[in-house]
Amino acid sequence: MERIGVGLLGYGTVGSGVGKLLRESAGEIQLATGKDVYLRRVCEVAGFTHSDLGSALITSSFDDIVSDPQIQIVVELIGGIHPALEFQTAALNAGKSVVTANKQLISQHGHELFEAAEVTHTHLRFEASAVGAVPVIKVLRESLAAAQVQRIFGIVNGTTNYVLSAMTDTGAAYDDVVRQAQALGFAEADPTEDVGGKDAAAKMAILSSIAFHSRVTLADVQHEGITAVTATDMAHARSFGYVIKLLGVAKLIDGRMNVRVYPAFLPKDHPLAGVKGAYNAVFLESESFDKIMLFGPGAGSVPTASAVVGDIISIVNTAPGGFVRNCTCYKDVAFYPSERVESSFYLRLQVEDKPGVLGKITAIFGEEGVSIRSVVQTGRSDSAELVMVLHPAPEAAVMGSLARVGGLAEVQGSPSFIRVEGEDGV
Ligand code: HSE
Repeated sequence: MERIGVGLLGYGTVGSGVGKLLRESAGEIQLATGKDVYLRRVCEVAGFTHSDLGSALITSSFDDIVSDPQIQIVVELIGGIHPALEFQTAALNAGKSVVTANKQLISQHGHELFEAAEVTHTHLRFEASAVGAVPVIKVLRESLAAAQVQRIFGIVNGTTNYVLSAMTDTGAAYDDVVRQAQALGFAEADPTEDVGGKDAAAKMAILSSIAFHSRVTLADVQHEGITAVTATDMAHARSFGYVIKLLGVAKLIDGRMNVRVYPAFLPKDHPLAGVKGAYNAVFLESESFDKIMLFGPGAGSVPTASAVVGDIISIVNTAPGGFVRNCTCYKDVAFYPSERVESSFYLRLQVEDKPGVLGKITAIFGEEGVSIRSVVQTGRSDSAELVMVLHPAPEAAVMGSLARVGGLAEVQGSPSFIRVEGEDGV
């Protein structure tokens, strides 16, 4: 039986899961491929000891992987840009296919890696780079290759979904929930990339590039995180029939792409509203298939490793020149400016409670062409909290209104806003 050697770079959470799956599922992998796919070498540049690996398997030199003719597939799980970029490029140039979970690298340097793979007729697979175990990339690249996806709404970051779900369920404040999530291992010691939206932005760049067949890089994805979401916003969302989620939102508008990440109000009966805890989900909309939702774990050792092993099997089963191309960005679609996107907003402002204040505020929205859907005012001595929901309007008009409203002497602090999504069909 033909043997396919796998070289593994990185033996952390996901890497050790890949080692375990290759060992424990060897029989299934053989049935799926007709080949003996085995772990040939593991490289950890920093050096390490792992009781489940024999010493002959371990090396601290990447050269031992790239120069080994028995290794056909290199799995890069060290993360970050350098030296992952150099390692992946060297592996592809050496005629080895690459599987990775590295979202930052694919979303920033995908173009050059795909080119290297084209030159040597090798494969570059990255299912685990977005939404962990959920096979969304395979579905977009293969199953939906002929469907025109028009919108993607994604809960693509487990940390923030855990934090927002806990705030919703308990009414607790953001800082307290983040501390608790860190203690339970649901949030990193430094969760900046998660709570700031960058992790989700990288994943949305990858998903939208495939869905829209046009390159979207991390730099193209404007992102806002969840650090400004308060327990008060959560309570208002609940009383209006919404939940707050950190959403990746990719839309084709007039044939152009707009890809962003921001916290959003979602109607509580929207399918994504029920995605709780550290789970992820991607909701796809198209005129051809209506709506599809994919749901599952976005992280974790064995769940993510299952996506990596799925990619290894896909490579082994894809004949050279087969239909699964590396780069699916065969179009050059322009970006739609965010200022022109029509969005609905929830707003919260603290104002002086005296005659004429509400009138001044509503007059500004009227002058800017922004229509108000609902207003709730709650008085507290001489100060009142004003909560408004707006009808959809161009974002430039809403932001212009907010700048003017925030400048009124009677408005205390800066107005806060959260977009409302998921209320309209395709
Ligand atoms: N840190 C990510 C999350 C998992 O919280 O979803 C890896 O992408």
